[in-house]
Amino acid sequence: MSDAKARFDFLLAFLRDPLSTGSLTPSSRELAIELIEPLPLHGQTKILEIGPGTGAVTKVLAERLSHAEAYQGVELNSDFLSDLGRRFPKFRFLEGSAEDLLGLGVPTQSLDGVVSAVPWTLLKPATRAKIFSQIRQTLKPEGHFTTFLYWHLLHLPVGKKIVREISKSFSRIERSPIVFKNFPPAVVLHCQSRKK
Ligand SMILES: C[S@@+](CC[C@H](N)C(=O)[O-])C[C@H]1O[C@@H](n2cnc3c(N)ncnc32)[C@H](O)[C@@H]1O
Repeated sequence: MSDAKARFDFLLAFLRDPLSTGSLTPSSRELAIELIEPLPLHGQTKILEIGPGTGAVTKVLAERLSHAEAYQGVELNSDFLSDLGRRFPKFRFLEGSAEDLLGLGVPTQSLDGVVSAVPWTLLKPATRAKIFSQIRQTLKPEGHFTTFLYWHLLHLPVGKKIVREISKSFSRIERSPIVFKNFPPAVVLHCQSRKK
């Protein structure tokens, strides 16, 4: 998919369902690289991407994962899923919400890493709590979780609230430098699960 087509499809999805899509444009390649940088990508690893959308992060994972079985994606939007299936035929995509990863067949404590660009600030607190709980349950002890928040939101009450919510579910949280080559600029949060 060309960048222009990805942007167009993304904009259409935003106009149809702004709360789930969460942004006017896909993540930049620079943000995608920063998001996957802390994840263990080699060997018998299992990585789950929540909300692959038009594949900005999926593409970088496809370049770096040593085998296709390492990847699973969970996406709500069926139009995005059809395109993802065509572009990444060796990857496994599940249709549904990350609120019920266990119900979608992701086993408990099976994942080495979870990467997600879902629009946290637009989700209800109860939905975020369910997703964080499902991530914790499906990650291995000391598994990695990476996500991002737009930089300007980190200074607002809603951004601070989300960081607090993540801190309750995960132990260490490290912040990346600001990724200016993204619109809007973003900061990646790299979290590790609490020991069980
Ligand atoms: C901001 S877009 C990010 C897309 C892509 N990962 C990127 O970085 O460009 C958020 C994506 O998360 C998906 N999404 C939102 N809520 C979700 C949920 N509860 N479970 C799974 N996917 C979800 C949306 O359909 C959308 O594709």
